[in-house]
Amino acid sequence: MALNSGPPAFGPYYENHGYQLDNYPPRHLVNSNAYVPYSAPYSPSAVPQYIPRVHTHTSTPAEVHLRQKSSSGTIFTSRTKKIICVAMSIGVILIGAVIAAIFLWKFVKNSCPNSGIECGTSGTCISPANWCDGISHCPSGEDENHCVRLYGPKFILQVYSSHNKSWYPVCQDDWTDYYGKIACKDLGYNMNNFHSCQGITDDSGATSYMKLNLSAGNVDFYEKLYNSNVCLSKAVVSLRCIECGTVMKSNQLNRIVGGTNAAPGEWPWQVSLHVQGVHVCGGSIITPEWIVTAAHCVEEPLNNPRYWTAFAGILRQSVMFYGTGYKVQKIISHPNYDSKTKNNDVALMKLQTPLAFNEKIRPVCLPNPGMMFEPTQTCWISGWGATHEKGKTSDILNAAMVPIIEPWKCNSRYVYNNMITSSMICAGFLRGKIDSCQGDSGGPLVTEKNSVWWLVGDTSWGSGCAKINRPGVYGNLTVFTDWIYQQMQANR
Ligand code: ARG
Repeated sequence: MALNSGPPAFGPYYENHGYQLDNYPPRHLVNSNAYVPYSAPYSPSAVPQYIPRVHTHTSTPAEVHLRQKSSSGTIFTSRTKKIICVAMSIGVILIGAVIAAIFLWKFVKNSCPNSGIECGTSGTCISPANWCDGISHCPSGEDENHCVRLYGPKFILQVYSSHNKSWYPVCQDDWTDYYGKIACKDLGYNMNNFHSCQGITDDSGATSYMKLNLSAGNVDFYEKLYNSNVCLSKAVVSLRCIECGTVMKSNQLNRIVGGTNAAPGEWPWQVSLHVQGVHVCGGSIITPEWIVTAAHCVEEPLNNPRYWTAFAGILRQSVMFYGTGYKVQKIISHPNYDSKTKNNDVALMKLQTPLAFNEKIRPVCLPNPGMMFEPTQTCWISGWGATHEKGKTSDILNAAMVPIIEPWKCNSRYVYNNMITSSMICAGFLRGKIDSCQGDSGGPLVTEKNSVWWLVGDTSWGSGCAKINRPGVYGNLTVFTDWIYQQMQANR
């Protein structure tokens, strides 16, 4: 982390083995569509707008040629003319039939018979009873990973109605922790980490809810839910699948305001990721088993989990040297990560053994869809990265306050000239001096909202460190939450 304090006067220093790939800005990515709103993955497919072009007029060059010849009266008799005419008509009819068949096929393919539900836009249809029943029927599992979500800063539980193709909050009537645990499991959490369910007054203006039908008998959870406009309790379910984003009070008091060195337990989700005993990248704890980091940290050949060890709850690299750390079982990079542009720079690490949470090791909350982080929202970055450009990795964990920079500003000609996509978020100061730097990558950009700490971003790139008009660029976690839950669910 580069700060305006200059090189610190104490503490051992380490060669910086953090990524040095930052000869940014890369000149090739100019996304004129930067910051298009994130669209839901399984929106209904558009009706194909293909209009066939059939030549109805018959004055083709060939025909002109024929006419010219016959007008001279030397080659074609009227019989041959007739044969050619018939042959051409048959040809036109055949082409028409093929086009009609293609249209018919597309139509049949796009709509599911007998009120079936289409799997995304794949053309595969499944029965509504199989949608969200805990068993994957669709080719890419759309029927199971698009059923529940937590919405907004209050963790409002929403259920997807495949019938109405829309999300509804769940009415608190008859709701118990038992159902909360099922919903958390479907999101990808482990039921053992379940935190709480709470009925809260819904201020979203919803007029329709999903309600439990307890008389439905021993059927699947989703089959017990039905759409209704009445909710007697006038409360909706707020669901916390894991106790995330909290910091021990005593640790918060220790915070050095405006300071740089972190206090124990101040950033309990921060991990240091080592390769062969050397700090390479940072990461953030989201569950006892899962860590969020940057995809560029685990690019080949470092995509092999055997190379990595994670250290949690330790502030000094010199102390980690004597520890054993946590082994990594699996590494999953975002499938659309682009190593040239750093678009979708996010990856997940699954640990071999779960972390034991305590006041120094705790998870941060993943941002929920519907959350907006604005420039007025103060964010913090932390890491063991270099304390000045081309400097060495820091021995002690550092943290700094950075504001979010609006996309239009960050994409301006004087800053990153349209290199910022909707999966990136800029934070820092255009006047320079405070920034993340080499070795901070993968680490957290967090903010506190509604007394909860949220993972807003993961440290991704920047041109140099702490330079004027070259702020830090972070992966935009809100855009990745869906993908992260899908991976946690599929790789439990
Ligand atoms: N890519 C760097 C790393 O691997 C992070 C750089 C962040 N740069 C910045 N100016 N904020 O550690």
